Amino acid sequence: MQIHSAISDLRAALSGKGRVVFVPTMGNLHAGHIALMTQARALGDTVVASIFVNRLQFGPNEDFDKYPRTFADDCEKLAVAGVDLLFAPTESDLYPEPQQYQVDPPEIKNQLEGEFRPGHFRGVATVVLKLFNIVQPQVAVFGKKDYQQLMVLRNMTRQLALPIEIVGGETVRAADGLALSSRNAYLTPAERREAPRLNRVLQAIADAVRAGNTNLSQLEQAAAAELDAHGWKTDYVAVRQQGDLQAPQAGNGELVALAASRLGTPRLIDNVEIRVNV
Ligand code: PAF
Repeated sequence: MQIHSAISDLRAALSGKGRVVFVPTMGNLHAGHIALMTQARALGDTVVASIFVNRLQFGPNEDFDKYPRTFADDCEKLAVAGVDLLFAPTESDLYPEPQQYQVDPPEIKNQLEGEFRPGHFRGVATVVLKLFNIVQPQVAVFGKKDYQQLMVLRNMTRQLALPIEIVGGETVRAADGLALSSRNAYLTPAERREAPRLNRVLQAIADAVRAGNTNLSQLEQAAAAELDAHGWKTDYVAVRQQGDLQAPQAGNGELVALAASRLGTPRLIDNVEIRVNV
């Protein structure tokens, strides 16, 4: 696996590499990321991963400084997963001057995750557009675990007519249902035992909706109450349309239940897609 930090070196290395599939990450890779690399391998000729902890998408009180940086370990995992090129820029490679031109997503940037992480999606969209311009992939793969991120990036790509196919990768879970996340490392052993409840309450919503329950706000409130009764501090539980994460409209059976809740130090997010016949 080649590793490049300079934009010009990466561009030179990519010339004539056929169909390029790109998987951007912030490192600290786990089995969920590796599944995205494996998925990418099957989608083109050359797999490019990136590792860059993007300051722009972290709020002032978030964990940018603490975010685990495990570069050597990540490189080994990427090489084993068959990644061809790794782009690992420093901050001065990617932001040699203050990034004054940014991508401003629409109102969804202030909802769900955006309500609790102001500026987050602007930072994500900006860095991803910049990475797209550098790597110029034909395909890019993002995990469904960050469902709202995937939706924002898919819609950005479509609306800006970028010639890139956006592919979603299924969430990888521990045997007890907990979605793999770099932030699970912050859980104490007792919190780790409690953590699968987040997925269970979302599965319960999905089951109820599939069984015909249409009282979504009651389902959302019951799920949040169950979490909070077990020591969580819930930011939101919401059932939305998959395509734009707006409130479900009659006749749209492609839904997703999403939640974010804090358990001790880490704030965990998860989601479950729901398809109902309408
Ligand atoms: O999902 C992530 O790891 C990041 O948000 C991304 C897409 C690499 C942008 O920094």
